[in-house]
Amino acid sequence: MAHPSHRRIAIFGAGYIGLVTGACFAELGHNVVVRDIQPERIRLLNVGDVPIYEPGLGDLIARNKERLTFTLDAEEAVRDADVAYVCVDTPPTPSGDANLSRVWSVIDALKAASHLAAVVVKSTVPVGTAGRVRAALDAAGLSHVGYASNPEFTAEGKAVSDFLHPDRVVIGADDPATAELIASLHEGIDGPVVIMDTASAEMVKLAANALLATKITFTNEIATMCEATGADIEHVTRAIGLDHRLGPHFMQAGLGYGGSCFPKDSRALRAMASNAGYAFQLLTAVIEVNDLQPRRAIQRLKTELDGLGGKTITLLGLAFKAGTDDMREAPSTVIASRLLAEGATVRTWDPLAQPGDGEPWSSTTRHFTPVEAMTGADAALVVTEWPQLAEVPWDQARAVMRRPLVFDGRNLLDPAAMAGLGFTYMSVGRRTVSR
Ligand code: UDX
Repeated sequence: MAHPSHRRIAIFGAGYIGLVTGACFAELGHNVVVRDIQPERIRLLNVGDVPIYEPGLGDLIARNKERLTFTLDAEEAVRDADVAYVCVDTPPTPSGDANLSRVWSVIDALKAASHLAAVVVKSTVPVGTAGRVRAALDAAGLSHVGYASNPEFTAEGKAVSDFLHPDRVVIGADDPATAELIASLHEGIDGPVVIMDTASAEMVKLAANALLATKITFTNEIATMCEATGADIEHVTRAIGLDHRLGPHFMQAGLGYGGSCFPKDSRALRAMASNAGYAFQLLTAVIEVNDLQPRRAIQRLKTELDGLGGKTITLLGLAFKAGTDDMREAPSTVIASRLLAEGATVRTWDPLAQPGDGEPWSSTTRHFTPVEAMTGADAALVVTEWPQLAEVPWDQARAVMRRPLVFDGRNLLDPAAMAGLGFTYMSVGRRTVSR
């Protein structure tokens, strides 16, 4: 018999967030129907395939298949549901605002669902969206249906464990009964539940991501200072991170943050500020420094190689971070475009990411192994911190490269060891070394 707190949940959107949320709620014992508008996505899910790469998700879906179904039909998804979760994407518009059209089409599809106990928005939305959705539900005669904001903080590559063992679950609701209902869906989850008003919950998501982006950018700024002064960023961040008030996380210097959240959410928060007539200068600086970070790396490489025209450069890693196939806002895209614009030939390797056929990738060649990719190269650039790159037979790479130059954009490798193998080894915030 189902536990009294087990509910029937309709999830709208079978992307990273919707699928992880749906599978994890099924794991907690709820009955879940996930609805998407893409027929191919639903077809794959119905035959047991997972259309995205996320460790542990396939197992979770398979294990809970009795409680987890997939459909194209919004009415079918919501027919028996107690709670509807909106997990669709909110891409930026040309003005930098979030495009909420997909959120609104779900809300439209829910207007006849007067049996629902609550509508929950998990999509990242501008602060104040809750009030607008509430008004739309009221106007549709659904004032008895509760509304909650339940932002997600899961990172790709560990989304399942982040969902089931979160630092916190944030629930924004303007009435206690709805807050309690949404909190009860999370029973069995190992982490504190924090309840607040809807606007604050919407702000938590944007502010948390902006602060993490700021911490990364601050580290990259200090790394640039280290390059200018001869200090070593890895020593500096290790020591700073031991201060419990600062902590060691999100202090890895590199080629800048990418992905589906930080770039988009920091721009959305800045656009929200600008729309209110307020110039959020700190966030503007964070965004600008992050845009500069991959370009600085190319500039350093250009100086070292005495120009990039006619040179062959190998990109090791394309995904925006290790452990994912996601190419959204990956620094590799800017890097490849810049190298091509400078007249270089670009060879690539990545164990998972499929960069697609469009530019810049159609002008690059892909290779199956790092060593193959580095054959004939004037320089190799570590773009993604794939652990496989620490295992590369670098002596073999050295033998096949035209010039022994490695630019480690993620500070993954050991400078002394690389220099010992005969490389000129450049990295971020550390001295360039060679034998
Ligand atoms: C992030 C947030 O962590 C998550 O809470 C939110 O819900 C969505 O956005 P994600 O984009 O999956 O998750 O990746 P994350 O691991 O946070 O990394 C984001 C980017 O920052 C990556 O490009 C990564 O390479 C970069 N990064 C991260 C650094 O450059 N240095 C660091 O120290 C940490």
